[in-house]
Amino acid sequence: MNAQHDSWHFSRPALADAYLQGFQLGLVSARGLFARRRMGKTEFLKHDLLPAASKAGYVAAYTNLWDDADHPGQALASAMWLALEPKGISKLWESLNTPIKKMKAGGKLPMGAEASLELDLAEKEKLSIPAIQAALQAADKSKKKLLLVIDEAQVLAAPAHKNLAHSLRAGLDIRKESIKVLFAGSSEAALREMFSKTSAPFYNWAPVEPFPLLGREFVEAMVEQVQRLARQPLSLAEATGAFEALKETPEFFRWYIERYLLNQELGAKNALETTLLRVHNDTAHVKTWKELTRADRAVLLLAAKGVQDLYGAAALKQLKVILDLQEVTATLPRTSLRRLTGQKLQLLARIDHGTYRFEDQEFQLWVSARSTVD
Ligand SMILES: Nc1ncnc2c1ncn2[C@@H]1O[C@H](COP(=O)(O)OP(=O)(O)OP(=O)(O)O)[C@@H](O)[C@H]1O
Ligand SMILES: [Mg+2]
Repeated sequence: MNAQHDSWHFSRPALADAYLQGFQLGLVSARGLFARRRMGKTEFLKHDLLPAASKAGYVAAYTNLWDDADHPGQALASAMWLALEPKGISKLWESLNTPIKKMKAGGKLPMGAEASLELDLAEKEKLSIPAIQAALQAADKSKKKLLLVIDEAQVLAAPAHKNLAHSLRAGLDIRKESIKVLFAGSSEAALREMFSKTSAPFYNWAPVEPFPLLGREFVEAMVEQVQRLARQPLSLAEATGAFEALKETPEFFRWYIERYLLNQELGAKNALETTLLRVHNDTAHVKTWKELTRADRAVLLLAAKGVQDLYGAAALKQLKVILDLQEVTATLPRTSLRRLTGQKLQLLARIDHGTYRFEDQEFQLWVSARSTVD
């Protein structure tokens, strides 16, 4: 957390307390909360709820299953271990991993390096079930209660993760007294389904409620913060109007404030207009990005950052790192660039051998602001 983040974060201590109170009173041991994207769930969970829980004497574990939606088990196991026994985590994977290493040493895996890396993650995912069980047992030994916060929890509802979900529920079911769980997600439907389908692993396990949204007080706090920094104060009425125009979305409102501060001479109306445009573009960019393969995204990342020779050794090395592969040949950028320049996408245009430019500069800026292919 940097200082800048601190000064702009609008704390919600009462809301954090309300959640903890609910657990404390023993009324519920698990809750599900949902709100649209960019409404402040993650920010609240990480920066308000977790610190409040720690202060109240919980061991607090947080994981966002979207960070690696294919491997939620590893994310859960790691988060729990990190909170319970930060020193034990690498040793844990090491010991659980031994059987795979032995198999490899015995030459039973005749695939290429890329395939075996995939296999590592897949194997590790299977091992995450015993790893979670071990973490639950470690929690039993702790004097403190555990608060487990699972952000983007709907990932667990995917059929591929059924075993994991069943095992997690079984482990949590017998520990309702000592382990409290908060499920959060941006899809109300997906979250509800997780808890309401009789066949689902978490059937009837947690009430699902809307996450209380940020409103007037948030806008006031941001305006006050602007007054501290700006030569030209921002009127509350103007800011309130902008918040409404931006569909009361905290993330967009922060863009607006930033825009205002950086271009005060252009005024509040201009800040809102540019922000609305940015929101519009962003929605389109997210959609485009989602439809691309990871390899295509990685190539775009390099192109956006101005890499000149996308087939060169340096570029291949970077692709290897970004995509977490053991080997990358020029075939990868070649195949991607064919798609990215093709009729259907038309995202890049070829300038020279290995050198490409973006068709849309706005999109280039958007891509270059990203650091991963997720
Ligand atoms: N309490 C807050 N104080 C200041 N800014 C906030 C606050 N909550 C949210 N924001 C702004 O909104 C942005 C989005 O918030 P956040 O990532 O928490 O949303 P989310 O609901 O988790 O969205 P998603 O479903 O996309 O993950 C933050 O990066 C921040 O700029
Ligand atoms: Mg979030």
